Amino acid sequence: MSKSSNPIPAEFQITNTIDQKQYLVAGELKKWNGNTTQVFSTISSSEEYKPTLLGSIPDMGEVEALDALDAALSAYDKGQGVWPTMKVKDRIVCMETFVEKMKEKRAEIVKLLMWEIGKSLPDSQKEFDRTVEYIEDTVEEYKDLDRGSAKFQKHQGVYAHIRRGPLGVVLCLGPYNYPLNETFALLIPAIIMGNTTIFKPAKHGVLLITPLLEAFRDSFPKGVVNILFGRGRAVAAPIMKTGKVDVLALIGNSKSANALQEQHPKSNRLRLVLGLEAKNPAIILPDADLDLTIDEVIAGTTSFNGQRCTALKVVYVHEDIKTEFLDRFSKKIDALKFGNPWDNGVKLTPLPEPGKPAYIQELLDDALAKGASIQNDKGGQHSENYIWPAVLYPVSKDMRVYQEEQFGPIIPVLSFKDIEEPLDDMAESNYGQQVSLFGKDVYTLSPLIDTLANLVCRVNLNSSCQRGPDVYPFTGRKDSAQATLSVHDALRSFSIRTFLAFKDNDLNNETVEQLLDAKVSNFLSTDYIL
Ligand code: G3H
Repeated sequence: MSKSSNPIPAEFQITNTIDQKQYLVAGELKKWNGNTTQVFSTISSSEEYKPTLLGSIPDMGEVEALDALDAALSAYDKGQGVWPTMKVKDRIVCMETFVEKMKEKRAEIVKLLMWEIGKSLPDSQKEFDRTVEYIEDTVEEYKDLDRGSAKFQKHQGVYAHIRRGPLGVVLCLGPYNYPLNETFALLIPAIIMGNTTIFKPAKHGVLLITPLLEAFRDSFPKGVVNILFGRGRAVAAPIMKTGKVDVLALIGNSKSANALQEQHPKSNRLRLVLGLEAKNPAIILPDADLDLTIDEVIAGTTSFNGQRCTALKVVYVHEDIKTEFLDRFSKKIDALKFGNPWDNGVKLTPLPEPGKPAYIQELLDDALAKGASIQNDKGGQHSENYIWPAVLYPVSKDMRVYQEEQFGPIIPVLSFKDIEEPLDDMAESNYGQQVSLFGKDVYTLSPLIDTLANLVCRVNLNSSCQRGPDVYPFTGRKDSAQATLSVHDALRSFSIRTFLAFKDNDLNNETVEQLLDAKVSNFLSTDYIL
């Protein structure tokens, strides 16, 4: 497999390491004097392969974790804090201040996305821009939500003024594949709804958060956003054990989510907002348009090297078209361009986890030993930081690549005669996020759509699986998710309906009129935000 030998453009070269010695707690950027962990990129800066040192981050523990929790609890102040009681329009001003400051850091963050997680330049730019857009859309959606709440209802002689209120303290943990976008898709709605937060960046894609520390400090009241660095088990576990966290917001894998939930002593207090693993299938029917299908399956299986929870992780192709599909698909996979993230037209890029090529090799060896073969010439070729996607066929259910969420470049293919085969597999699966269905005949598609919609949460017709556009609901059944994220739904996931109720009588009506005239309550208000 050819390595990228292109020179690194000047603007993307690593000239200084970032030795991150600060963390944000209680509105203060505190100085860290303890142990640090070095951060390496698997991308080499020299001709001879060598991981590149990017910098270091604090290796924090229980003391700092509990300090951050105290700061978040004080900022919430049993519901009396400045932030949870603040007028919606003032919270929006803080968020708008933050997003303006964030925009100034685009170039720095995009460069770190490429080095830290190996995401291509266009995809890194897209991740940044999509996140900014997500924040701006969230602000508009919150205004809309607030406008809808600026009224009273009356049923059976009882008036109600219903709003959505914060839940309390949110512990927020994001994934390495979208260290900015997915983390902010949790953090931003949690903050804007009036919660106070503790946030720990993912293991890879951590330095890219550091340019934003000051923006967080300067945009929100103290203690609303607290940012820690270190290992999840060292900082997240002690926070959960206190039982004082109200929401665990995590995008990652179900093992970490389960381990953290179990630490919390009061399970009914803890609300979960989780985006977990998936094994989204592509189902290719005999009448599928193969040109389009192959392009979509390539995008679904190989975008960001398959390191997406929404990636297509298993492909079911009908017996009648399997030979043609495998042949054309394999050739197209081998024609993809591998290189460093800034190389023009690059589709496959270095894997950020040093152990990933070896893990993918294990899946490959296991499948080969159990009867699969590699369909494409380059499948399984190694370099120091990559393994070429192997198209594996025929895959059977006893293979690890069928059972595990590979989250990397390897493509298991099964063929079927009867559509009940993939449907049964999906019903048995622990996952239920999305499916891609390829075909044309409406009488075949109709009952399938009806069934698939009950097995997963998004049926993609002749299209690869994806999360976006972010206005659409992103969720899953079974082990794939809890709660729903989208610009609209996330505001609801991080809040609860709470209201002022009063019986219709002269005293109450007069009192409420006076309360509204006085304009002193931020909750009880019929003011509109335009
Ligand atoms: O890792 C899972 C992401 O939510 C996938 O998002 O479909 O936009 O790549 P995406």
